Amino acid sequence: MKAFSRLLPCLLVAAAFVGCAPKQDPNTIRMITEATFPPYEFREGTAVVGIDVDICQAIADKLGKKLAVEDVEFDSVLPSLIAGKAELAAAGITVNEDRKKTVDFSDPYVTTGIVIISAKDSPVKGKEDAQGKAIGVQNGTTSADYCVNELGQEPDRFDSPAAAFAALKAGKVSLVIADVDPAKNIIVQDGGDASAFAITSEPYFLTSEDYAIAIAKGQPELLATINEVIGELKASGRLDEIFAANKAKSDALATAE
Ligand code: ARG
Repeated sequence: MKAFSRLLPCLLVAAAFVGCAPKQDPNTIRMITEATFPPYEFREGTAVVGIDVDICQAIADKLGKKLAVEDVEFDSVLPSLIAGKAELAAAGITVNEDRKKTVDFSDPYVTTGIVIISAKDSPVKGKEDAQGKAIGVQNGTTSADYCVNELGQEPDRFDSPAAAFAALKAGKVSLVIADVDPAKNIIVQDGGDASAFAITSEPYFLTSEDYAIAIAKGQPELLATINEVIGELKASGRLDEIFAANKAKSDALATAE
């Protein structure tokens, strides 16, 4: 009994260590994302769904593996990938030179960009208009970079584009800069044409950005497989279907809320 009670704490510590380091299941490929970004990734009930999930599911299918999805804050997505917590990062991630230093990117699956959301009755239309105003962005995004590098100012950083928009509605910021598709979804959720807010940037896009899947550097075989899948999805028209279905689904959820 005495020996056992001395042994017990050791057993508990050992069990805790085993629990901390679960073996990576060779039959599963893990995708890391940040799921406040419809139609690319959003919640349907408790499940994370969206364009990026469907693309990663096609990659998993090609590899004959199950897909596991993990949802973290956006500024943790690439660090977590680099730390080996997932094999795929897919989160509407814009390809840029800075990020290319730390991860490898697949071929792009869409070309898009960032826009301004502001009040219709005092629209902020562009760079000059925005400068000096309080700007809401999602932390860690190219919208945040745009504020710092193009406008020369610090934005107010939020956990999601929707949280930045809530600050705009509350009068805490004067405009939001966000990727166009989540921005459109936000306006749909706010009543569409009846909303007091709209995408007001002119020209519409402040930037042109390509989204791609990121993986840890130095895996040419995995990269080739991902590019093959993206190529097939594009050629078969399946990628267009994935976009249309997830836009419809996220708009329906936005109006149902
Ligand atoms: N495209 C932008 C970027 O790469 C924003 C992506 C945000 N994605 C997300 N799942 N929250 O910085």
